[in-house]
Order: sequence, then C-alpha cells, then structure tokens
Amino acid sequence: MSKPIIILGIESSCDETAAAICQEGKIVANIISTQFDHARYGGVVPELASRLHQAYILPVVEQALERANVAKEDLSAIAFTVGPGLPGALMVGVNFAKGLALGLGCPLIAVDHLLGHIVSLFIEEPFPSFPFICLTASGGHTQLSLVKSILDIEVLGKTIDDAAGEAFDKAAKLLGLPFPGGPQIDKLAQGGKVDFHQFPEPKVEGFNFSFSGLKTSFLYYLRREVAKQPDFISKHLEDICASLQHRIVTTLLNQLTKAAEHYQVTNLAIAGGVSANSYLRKLFFEACKQKKWNAFIPPFKYCTDNAAMIALTGYYQYLRSDFVSHKVTALPNGKF
Ligand code: KG4
Ligand code: ZN
Repeated sequence: MSKPIIILGIESSCDETAAAICQEGKIVANIISTQFDHARYGGVVPELASRLHQAYILPVVEQALERANVAKEDLSAIAFTVGPGLPGALMVGVNFAKGLALGLGCPLIAVDHLLGHIVSLFIEEPFPSFPFICLTASGGHTQLSLVKSILDIEVLGKTIDDAAGEAFDKAAKLLGLPFPGGPQIDKLAQGGKVDFHQFPEPKVEGFNFSFSGLKTSFLYYLRREVAKQPDFISKHLEDICASLQHRIVTTLLNQLTKAAEHYQVTNLAIAGGVSANSYLRKLFFEACKQKKWNAFIPPFKYCTDNAAMIALTGYYQYLRSDFVSHKVTALPNGKF
C-alpha cells in the first residue's frame, strides 16, 4: 500500500499562530493560538505579532502532530502561508517551514493566504460546484474571484484602499469598542435599527471595492452628532452599529451580485473573517434564495484565519507537484 499524503499547514500571516494536518484531503488536526495581546493596543502590532509567532510556532506544530497522531517523519510536505500578510509575521512561518522541510528532506509548498480562504470552502461539505464566484472579505483584503477549479482563480476585483474588516475595525475604534471590532459591531447591531442613518454607498468602477470614504463619512457623522449631543454614541450605539454594518454588508453584496449577473454564474460563496458576520450571512442567503442561486459559506471556525485552509490548499498543490525551493521568501503582497 502506498503511503498516505500527509501535509502540515502553517499559518502566521497576522495574529493567529496556527498549524493543521491534512491527510488525504481530510483535516485531522487544526490548532490555533490567537494573540489576544494586541487588544490593549487597539490593533495588531507587527513587531509583537512576530515575537509571539516565534514563541508559539513550535508548540502549536507539536500539538497538531500529536492531535493527528502523526510523526513528523510521516509528513509528505510542509505547506506555509507565503503572503499576503505582515512581513515579519510571515517570515516566522516561512523560516520555520524551511528548517523543518530541510531537516525532514520533504518538499515545501508556498500557499497564498487568500487562495487558502477560498479553499476553506472545501474543508467540509457541501462543496460549491464550479464555476463559482467567491467574495473573500477579511481584515486585510476584500476580493471578488471567479473560481473555475480548485486552484484556477481569476481575480475580478479588489479593494482599492481599506478592506471590509478594516472598515469594521476602524469604525469600532471610533466608537470606543475593543479590537477586533467586527464581532463587537455584529453583536451590538443585532439590537439596532439599520435605517437609523443612511451612510453613502461607495461608488467604484467594475468589481472593485473602496471603504476609506465610508470611514471618513462615519468619522464626520460621529463628530457632528457628538458636538450636538455629547452622549450621542452611548445613547445610540446599537443603531449606529446596525446602520454602519448595513452599509458595509450591502456594499459587499451589491458587488457580488453584480459579478454573478455579469458572469452568469449561479454558485456564490463568501469566505474570510468578515464572512463570520451574522448580518452578511443572513442577507447573503436571502439574496441567493430569491435569485435561486446556490450559496456557500465555510463553517464558522474556518471563516477566520486558520491553518486547516493552508494544509488543504497545500494538499491540492502537492497533487500538482507545485513545490518551492529553499530560496523562497515571504511575499507580503501575496502571489496574485
Ligand atoms: O480572515 P481574518 O481572520 O484575518 C485576515 O486575514 O485579515 O479576518 C479578520 C477580520 C477582522 O477585521 C475582524 O474584525 C473581521 O474579520 N471579523 C468580523 C467578524 N468576525 C471577524 N467582521 C464582522 N463581523 C464579524 N462577526
Ligand atoms: Zn485571513
């Protein structure tokens, strides 16, 4: 009997140190250590992230191997996030993967983080059928892609400034909410009115996105209202969150819908940290139901950063012998 294909996946692009094991296309271990240390600074501190990755990467990888009951000598290849992400944070994962692969004499696989988010749709069934359009919305990126097969992706549009997650996080900071702000706004918005205030819809060419104008208009709106009524924020916090969230979510969905109609694709997916947003999930399913489109979202635990998506992408790249040499370095802007 031939040896099973076992891939170790390593993720260190931002503030999660994560390792996962994929055996013959199935995730058998998924370990994540989230760096909560950044919360007190109101955002991810790159230097601190690198140092924490350095401290946690070995125990996280050891735990993944133990959980999967796999000896490191049984690994077929090491897959790691090559980018996009914070340069210093990526470097920890890249160098760890290089050292381990060199020691074990096994191949190295460089995985793009955003491709990983798309492949997270294939960790648990139901899987989307091809072609499908995927909206990937995270803290650092917002991207629309036409996915023709698992590794064959055409990028249709991107954000030209801030990412959707960044818009959530920056707005939350202005409201005095702790980092990361996305989940906080999601929770507070559940008790608020979406039509409390109408924020302007960003106007962007094609299938791109822009959220920096919305951020500025949100800032001026708060300043204006607080000048009139000093306790405006605390009095209307839920309504403000609901109105802002409505604008971010409808902006994302309008572009996704436009792309689906333009490309006449009836399978739609969302992935990345922002796809954990309950209002986005609700409106996405409702819109797809109304148009009779098939809707896909990864299970909640695979929406935010994890290494399962990196290990699974690594598995598919392994099947194509898509390996890199030990000269590989981090690509902070990603592969695409
Ligand atoms: O994919 P991810 O874990 O990391 C990056 O690749 O950036 O995404 C993190 C982003 C953060 O901006 C966070 O605020 C946002 O996802 N996020 C949410 C929710 N959960 C996470 N945004 C809105 N609602 C949520 N429930
Ligand atoms: Zn991510």
